[in-house]
Formats: sequence, C-alpha cells, structure tokens
Amino acid sequence: MAGSKFAYVKKFELPDTLLPSTFMVLRLDGHSFHRFSDQHGFVKPNDLRALQLMDHAAKSLMEEYKDIGLAFGESDEYSFLLRKSTALYNRRQAKIVSTLTSLFTSSYVFHWPKYFPDVPLQYPPSFDGRIVLYPSQREVRDYFAWRQADTHINNLYNTAFWALVQQGGQTTTEAHAILRGTVSKDKHEILFSNFEINYDKIDPRYRKGSVFVRVETTPEEPPNELSTNTDAASARPIVSEESRRKEEKKKKKVATQIELLHCDIIRDEFWDKYAHLMRD
Ligand code: GTP
Ligand code: MG
Repeated sequence: MAGSKFAYVKKFELPDTLLPSTFMVLRLDGHSFHRFSDQHGFVKPNDLRALQLMDHAAKSLMEEYKDIGLAFGESDEYSFLLRKSTALYNRRQAKIVSTLTSLFTSSYVFHWPKYFPDVPLQYPPSFDGRIVLYPSQREVRDYFAWRQADTHINNLYNTAFWALVQQGGQTTTEAHAILRGTVSKDKHEILFSNFEINYDKIDPRYRKGSVFVRVETTPEEPPNELSTNTDAASARPIVSEESRRKEEKKKKKVATQIELLHCDIIRDEFWDKYAHLMRD
C-alpha cells in the first residue's frame, strides 16, 4: 500500500545495528548525582539505601532481559554484559540503550520509597546510557577489572577523606590537602593509626561493588504433565504431538537465577568459576 506523500521522511532514519558476534557492555550512570545525592541527604561516603536501590533497579533489568549475564555496580553507575550472540531488538543500538536505560530509571524511581521511606523525591533523577562493543573475552575482563579498580580507588579515598572530616574534625580543604599525593598504603595507614579502621575489614559491598551473575539452576524433575491416553491394545500411552512439542520446548528453556555478590572480579578465580558468562 502506498504511503502518504509525507512518508519519505522515514528514509532519513538510519540503521544503527551493532556489529554481530561482539560482546555488548551497557553502562548507565546517574546524571549529576553529585547534586542528587546532596539534595536527598545521601550518607557519606557510602549510602547503603542508595546502593541497594541501584542493585534493585539492576536486578529488575536482568529479570526482564535474559541476555544480560553479568552486571557490576558502584556509586551511581551500573554496567551490564550482554551475550555475544544476543539478537535483542535486532541489535539496534538506540532501541537497546534507550529502552534499557528507561527501564532502569523507572525502576529506580518506582522502588525509591522502599529504600527512602522518609525522603520524598525532590525531582526526577535521570541516567545516561551507552553501549561499548568488545571483540574478545580479554577486553570484557579488562573492562570489568577497570570498573572494579575504580571502585577500589574511589572508595579508599572517600573512606579516608570522610574519616578525616567526620571523625578527625578536619575541614574538607584540610582533608584534601592531607590526602594529596598519598598512595594506597598511606591511606590505609591514615585510617588505621588515626581511626583504628582496618580498611580490609570494611564491608566488601563498599570495597568491591555489587556483582550480579546469572547462574543456571538445576530444576527438579517436572511432573509428567503430558496428556496421555492409553491404547488398550498395546497398553502404551499415546502422547499427542502438541504435548510432545510443548514438553520439548520446556526442556530447552534453561531456568536461571540471579545472584548478588560482592567479590573480586579482577582475578582468574571469578572468571573460572563463572566461565559460562563468556559463552554464547
Ligand atoms: P555526571 O555523571 O557527569 O552527570 O556527574 P555526577 O555528579 O553524577 O558525578 P559522577 O557520576 O562522576 O559521580 C557520582 C557522584 O554521585 C559522586 O561523586 C557522589 O557525589 C554521588 N554519590 C554516589 N554514590 C553516593 C553515596 O553512596 N553517597 C554519597 N554521599 N554520594 C554518592
Ligand atoms: Mg554520574
């Protein structure tokens, strides 16, 4: 059927299909969360409620999109790894980025009152989103290592900084000056000798960030629901073709569950244990 004379404008929409057989990493980041966290009284350096809300929104996304096998979150950001062979929205970039970012954001807002029952939202938060494609497992591993190393650097700095201010009575300017030029070992020492804080004993949630992995569950043997008739002559059950097909389909669907961890994802141990995350 011929379209209207205006339909030619559709031709200006360009395809944005992402390269096939490459890993997709979607990263979302809170827009101006420096301001957002201030306005909503987030605890410094880490607000457990805010981090748990981020985790909740991330889990919602993984529940909806089964092609996400792994997610890593810290502060106001979350990264999601999609299967190399995903055919999600025919790999159309704008469709994937906009829909997933939108669901994450609406989930964040939807679940806000559960985590901040006494803090009404002052204004609607937003998140930016981008997809980066990685050709091989090496880059994917290094990507996640990069994000977790960032968590470590930021959290160690922020823990030392806010200890100096909140417990040590320094001004923020003084705390900045004290930490300027220090290396990791110095910050551990400042925390331990001044505040008896053993950084390595701090909750791994803050030191390692949040890791969601999708793992296969071994389902219990399902009860035989096939509709059977008995052929009296042969005493063999007659299974309808349709029931057989349904059963086959059910068997192919692997049940999965999503687990939340706060573990190291830089060393081999994690990737050896969850080797399936890199498979098609
Ligand atoms: P853009 O992402 O560029 O829009 O800026 P941004 O202000 O969101 O900064 P960025 O994403 O680099 O950093 C996140 C900011 O969120 C941090 O600098 C903090 O100010 C704030 N933030 C995130 N998590 C927490 C938290 O648990 N507690 C507090 N107090 N602030 C947090
Ligand atoms: Mg941000």
